[in-house]
This record gives sequence, C-alpha cells and structure tokens, in this order.
Amino acid sequence: MNATGFSPKSATTDDIDWEKIRTDFPILKLKIDGKPLVYFDNAASSQMPQQIIDRLVRYQTAEHANINRAVHYLSEIATMEFHRARCKLQQFVNAEEDREIIFTSGTTDAINLVMHGYGRKFIKAGDEIILTTLEHHSNIVPWQMLASEKGAKIRVVPINDKGELEIDEYEKLFNERTKFVGLIHVSNALGTINPIKRMIDFAHQYSVPVLIDGAQAAPHLTIDVQALDCDFYVFSAHKLCGPTGVGMLYGKATLLEAMQPFKGGGDMIASVTFEKTIYNTIPHKFEAGTPPIAAAIGFGAAIDYLTAIGIERIAAYENTLLDYATACLNEIPGVKIIGTAAEKTAVISFTIDGIHPHDIGTILNQDGIAVRTGHHCAQPVMQRFNIPATSRASFAFYNKKSEVDTLVAGIKTVQKVFL
Ligand code: ALA
Repeated sequence: MNATGFSPKSATTDDIDWEKIRTDFPILKLKIDGKPLVYFDNAASSQMPQQIIDRLVRYQTAEHANINRAVHYLSEIATMEFHRARCKLQQFVNAEEDREIIFTSGTTDAINLVMHGYGRKFIKAGDEIILTTLEHHSNIVPWQMLASEKGAKIRVVPINDKGELEIDEYEKLFNERTKFVGLIHVSNALGTINPIKRMIDFAHQYSVPVLIDGAQAAPHLTIDVQALDCDFYVFSAHKLCGPTGVGMLYGKATLLEAMQPFKGGGDMIASVTFEKTIYNTIPHKFEAGTPPIAAAIGFGAAIDYLTAIGIERIAAYENTLLDYATACLNEIPGVKIIGTAAEKTAVISFTIDGIHPHDIGTILNQDGIAVRTGHHCAQPVMQRFNIPATSRASFAFYNKKSEVDTLVAGIKTVQKVFL
C-alpha cells in the first residue's frame, strides 16, 4: 500500500470487455435531443446496471417486509438479505466485524452521525478539529455546527497550486488541543487522491481519531480500513452504481460503543420504560427506525457487481480515460484544467477563458453531454483558485474514449458560440 492507500496504475485491464460491460447499463442507450447520452457526471451519481435493477425488482416482488421485527417468512428473508448486505460491505472495506458497519442514508448522514455521536460527546470548548481545504461541504458544515455549539476551533490544511494537500502544514497544525481530523480521501472537485495513510498515522501519534470521507474514493480505489487504521470511513451507494438513499459508516467497534446515539426510535433500543431507555448494541444503536432495506440490499448487489469486475481494474481503465482526456483538453487553447495533482482519480475540472461554467454546461447538454457545473459543494476549493465555479467531467468504467472525443468537440462548439 502506498501513502494514498492504493496504487491505481498497477492493475491490467486487458482481460475485460468494457464495451460489453457498457451494455449492462440501460440508461446509456438514451438519446438527449436525438444525440447519444454522454454521461460524464459520475462523481455526482453513477448509473445503475441491469443486474442491480433486477435485484431491486426481486426484492420488491418476492422478499419485502420489515426487518428485525417478526418471525414470518418475508420478514426473515428481508432480515437475512439486509444482514448479508452488511457483510458484503464489511468485506468490501475489510472491516474486522460486521457490527462495525452502520447503514446510513448516505455520506452526509454518516458524517452527521459521527458529529452527533462522537463529536457532541467528546469535543469540548477550546478543542481543535482539523479539516482540509479539499473537503466537501458535508465534511465542513457539521463540524462548524459542532465548533459553534462547543466553542471549539476549526483548523484548515491548505493546498498547493496543483490541488494537493500541504502535508507539512497539516503536521504543523497538531498540538495538545487537537481532538479530531476530518479528511476527504479523494477530492470531488479536483480528483486529488490524498495521502491518507500517512495522515492517519500522524494523527494517531497524537491519539487523534480520523474520519475519512470516502464518497469519491470507494468507486475507484480499494479500501482496507484495517490497513489504513482509520477510525471512521464513510461513503454512499449511489456513486457505486447502487441506489440513492443509503450509505455506510464504518467505525472501530470501541469508538462506536463509546459514542452516544444520533437518532432515537425503534430498533435502536434494548428496552424502554418512561423512566429509562437502555440502548441496543452496535450496529443497531445507530439504526433507529425502519432502515432503507431495499436500498441496502441494492447496495450489496452493487458491491457484488463492482468486485466481480475488480476495483483495481476499474481504476486502471478509468485512468486511461483520464490520461487521454487530460491530453486532449490540454491541447485546446483557452481551456485550463483545475487540479493537476500527481495522484488523481478520473475527474477533470476545467474552465474556459471568457465563458461561465453554466453556459458551458448548457451548450454541452445540447450535444447530449452531461457534466456538472458549479462549485461542486466545495466552495473553499473554488476560493483557493479564485474562481466561482468549474465544469467537471467525471468518468466511470462504462465511459469510452470516443465519448471524450465528443466532449472535446462539444468544448470547441462552446467556444464558437461564445467567443
Ligand atoms: N458530491 C457530489 C458531487 O461531487 C454530489 O457532485
């Protein structure tokens, strides 16, 4: 394992028929205004293959009931399948125990769970929380809310002109008041892969727990929470070809047990009287109410689908697209790539001189090309580069080089329209 936790350029993709894999995704056959869809907004949400759609249909048509609550046939099947999904996630991130995997409604919910469950119990006035300039708003705002409630302070790791974290500055931020680190594994706005292993090890020298926001990493990098030794790791299903409305929190069992519950309700209790409630054991203590059962089972199916292809092969293939697209965009006068880190996943944020990103997105859409435009919920990154927004093309393993050519042609059309 290297400092980022994985070396994406190591795998081979020769044994995979990527064109055939593409046919698994019915939505990719869509035409937008008569033009074939070119879907380059995978960092916002990826598309779903037929195998996972079929799994959801099978669940809804033959397996659905509430879980953990009844002894009838359907409830037992649904409970078992929900548990199997948890075990698939445990294996996917190599957690030691299945009870260390909590189903949440997504990455944001998982971070909020840690803020309420860990932060509100253990962070006190004067304590310091380290975040980075690359964080998504979901790993900034909850900690700001906590800091404001407790009188704690947020310290921020700067980035260089390539969009890489300044690790020396990170290390200088630590002192006896440092009590928590929130760290994005892969920047959604720039694609930078951060050296999280090194950063986790450094934080642990100060006995400081580290939460890793893996929303953009889990679709592209092999995650091994034991090798990383991270304290919390979070991501969502919908960026891994799974359904919306479900995500996961990995937490070390000792930490999860020490934390207070986030939400109260059914299933998270062992017993309730009006005098006293005794909470359930983990993971149930953090899963109040009826969980997203169908979505969690779809999440498990997505894990099966991706691991059958192989995350390392996916990353290696996506890197060929990234290298190709980077070279093509660098050749277009007036186009500037924002985020040129040495270690990147398949995300290209770019600006075009004299044209607002929303205008770029609008014209590209007329050619059937879906990119995200805006600040990408990472306004501090935009502020660092002194720009209001970028256009972002983010690739998945079902994209192909000819689609990059379509993007390049689309960018040239945008320049013709506006310049
Ligand atoms: N965080 C998602 C993105 O980067 C929505 O687009």
